[in-house]
Parts: sequence; structure tokens; C-alpha cells
Amino acid sequence: MSVWIVIVAAGSGTRFGGPKQYELLGSSRIVDRSIATACRVGDRVALVVGADDLGEMRAQFAANPDVVVVAGGTTRSASVRGGLGAVSDDAEVIVVHDAARPLATDALFEQVIASVLAGAAAAVPGVAVSDSLREIDGGVVDRGRVVAVQTPQAFRADLLRRAHRDEPDASDDATLVEMIGGKVEIVPGETTNFKITTSHDLKVARMLVAEESAS
Ligand code: CTP
Ligand code: MG
Repeated sequence: MSVWIVIVAAGSGTRFGGPKQYELLGSSRIVDRSIATACRVGDRVALVVGADDLGEMRAQFAANPDVVVVAGGTTRSASVRGGLGAVSDDAEVIVVHDAARPLATDALFEQVIASVLAGAAAAVPGVAVSDSLREIDGGVVDRGRVVAVQTPQAFRADLLRRAHRDEPDASDDATLVEMIGGKVEIVPGETTNFKITTSHDLKVARMLVAEESAS
């Protein structure tokens, strides 16, 4: 039995204004915090970075056989495929996680992994939406019927590989698995597990980490 975690960190951070995954969060960088969590909860980690960062990140993990560093692609889905290429054939569960969600807890990873080990094809965290929702060119969306979906997302390895076979694109992997008929289980997500997208998000994350180290 082995659990692989694919950390995607090859984005360019257009909305942030630069590669946010290399910003400091407390005493380490956003990407390093995500990798540290992945190393605690998984057996092996495939870290996906931009071509320009490959040399530096490979050097950082040269002495750690549990972390393989590979190059990403121009879309998130292409980057996930870069990671899948490094995952061993004997992996049973593959978890995909955004480097830009450094505050996901060990317990959240353990929950999605446990759901797949217990028989789910896929398990992803979802949180309730507090704003009212409306389609731009149409009707109201009942917010009681929707959740905002996060990572870490855990999958049976064969299913995730199959979902990526024709090189489709979507903003997350659960969508791709559903496109081939896979059933996705939703587990309770964490409001603190927001994706660092803008500089405001980084500000909030830094406040949370400062609070954590003060307590
Ligand atoms: N990602 C990736 N490869 C890409 C695009 C995104 O590995 N080609 C990763 C990002 O590094 C991030 C996660 O996917 O950890 C979620 O993406 P997002 O928050 O959209 O980050 P960016 O694509 O970097 O930001 P933006 O969309 O604002 O450019
Ligand atoms: Mg993006």
C-alpha cells in the first residue's frame, strides 16, 4: 500500500502578481509548508514546479528520497500530469494538493485518504458558501445545494490516471474524475484552508500563522 501526494507548484501567480508559492509564511515559504505537511501524511511526494525552479528545488530535496521534483505544464491539469508521471505504478492512493493552500491540516489529508482507503473512488473537501449565489445571466443558485471545493483531493490511483489519459483541462481533478463517471465523496473542508490567490489572502494567512506560533 502506498499513498503519493502530488503538490502542484508550477503556477505563475497572475492574480497575485508573481509566483506566490515562494513567498514567506512564518519561518518558511508557502511551498515548503505544503511539502512538509505532505511528507508527514503521505509515503512519497511528487513536487511539480516551473522549469525555472527545477534546479533549485531538486537541490533542496537532493538528500530526501521521499520527494521527487518534476516540471509542470502551462495549465494546472498539465502540471498534475507532470506529477503523475513521477508516481510509482504501485501507488494505491494519489492525493493532489495545491501548493497555494499551505494551511490544510494533517487531519484533512488523513480524512480524504481514509475515505479512499475505505472504498470511495475519490474524496474531496468542501465548505459551505456564505455569500448569496446567482448565475451571471440567469437565476439564483440555492447555496444550500453547493459547496466550495478545496484540495487535498484523494483518488484511487487507477481512476485519477484514467481521468487524465486524454489530457483534459479543468480547475480541479474531481471535475475530471466526474467527467469519466467517477463518484466523488465530499468531506468537510476547512475555512482556514483557503487558496492564496491575492495579496490579501497572503496577509490573512500570515496573521493566522503568527497567531499559531504565539499560542
Ligand atoms: N499550478 C500549477 N501549474 C499551472 C497552474 C497552476 O502547478 N500551470 C498550481 C499553482 O502553483 C497552485 C495551484 O496550481 O499551487 C492552484 O492554482 P492557482 O491558485 O490558480 O495559482 P496560479 O495559477 O499560480 O495563479 P493565477 O491563476 O492567478 O495565475
Ligand atoms: Mg491559476
